[in-house]
Amino acid sequence: MKIHGKHYRTIWTRPDETVEVIDQMKLPHVFETAVLKNAEDCAVAIKTMLVRGAPLIGATAAYGVAFAMKKDPSSKALVEAIDMLGATRPTAVNLRWALRRMNSVLKGIGHEDRFAAAWAEAAKICDEDVGTCRMIGVNAMPIFREIAKKNGGKLNVLTHCNAGWLACVDWGTALAPMYMAHDEGIDIHVWVDETRPRNQGASLSAYELGAHGVKHTIIADNAGGHYMQHGMVDLVIVGTDRVTRNGDVANKIGTYLKALAAHDNGVPFYVALPSSTLDMSMAKGSDIPIEERSTDELLKMTGRLPGGGLATVEIAAPGSPGANPAFDVTPARLVTSFITERGVCAATEEGLKGLFPQLA
Ligand code: MRU
Repeated sequence: MKIHGKHYRTIWTRPDETVEVIDQMKLPHVFETAVLKNAEDCAVAIKTMLVRGAPLIGATAAYGVAFAMKKDPSSKALVEAIDMLGATRPTAVNLRWALRRMNSVLKGIGHEDRFAAAWAEAAKICDEDVGTCRMIGVNAMPIFREIAKKNGGKLNVLTHCNAGWLACVDWGTALAPMYMAHDEGIDIHVWVDETRPRNQGASLSAYELGAHGVKHTIIADNAGGHYMQHGMVDLVIVGTDRVTRNGDVANKIGTYLKALAAHDNGVPFYVALPSSTLDMSMAKGSDIPIEERSTDELLKMTGRLPGGGLATVEIAAPGSPGANPAFDVTPARLVTSFITERGVCAATEEGLKGLFPQLA
């Protein structure tokens, strides 16, 4: 997507066989990029959330494996790199999906060819992600059009966290249809949940939507239910970090409360799901490992000072402990439909198997 008039992906290669990414720790205040030169750089970027979002951490991990193969193409180094990169974040299954894919391509390849093959496979993962996200947008559009038509061409959408192009390689999952609806002339407005504690909604989704000219309003995480009760939300659409075989959905903490509020108010609740996020090997949502992050994310806040610099301040009662689960699980029964690159399906095992029989 475009930032400052220039088309960007979130991750791209450089002629010197390094990788450049957008530094998402500095957004929305400063647009800066960072260069990743080895597997350790990729692991740190994922862990610190310089890059984040399920598809993007998978893509970054794939390049991490490629860097490891450049340094040492042995099978021992391959296993070690996969272990190191896999330990960075536990919930988004895209990370494991990308590492498994790299492993299965590389194990059948001679050591001398491993780096070239890994570099090419990582690029393929990135290119495929762009196509997948675009198709999620295309497949969501009939739903967006139909609801907008009933509303005289207007559409109020609510989203949580950031499942936009910054979370992927381009387009995004949940935000792809918002861009397409806007470009098609639908009068779309997006309620953007701030998404405490890291504020990916207020800082990243709002930044993306604003750059594309999509009307949006940042709201406190607690406000969505109120707007739903007042008929001001036509649909909710979110991304996901892992969907289990029975259709349960892990996504950013707070998603479950939005799904409950949507259910109570008869507002459709859609989940944008690339197949790389589908974990058919896991039976149900309660089996998903939920990442616990530093309580600094909750007890402190970073923002821009009036003069321009960034500052981090404490916002909680000194000495009070905190707890910071980064994701929650929305039960399948609260999900209206999954919107995938292959089409729309029910949030059930049968629905998922119908679209993705090869993963069953
Ligand atoms: O902790 P983050 O910022 O990596 O969490 C991101 C989300 O929860 C997104 O909604 C999810 O990864 C889907 S991105 C297409």
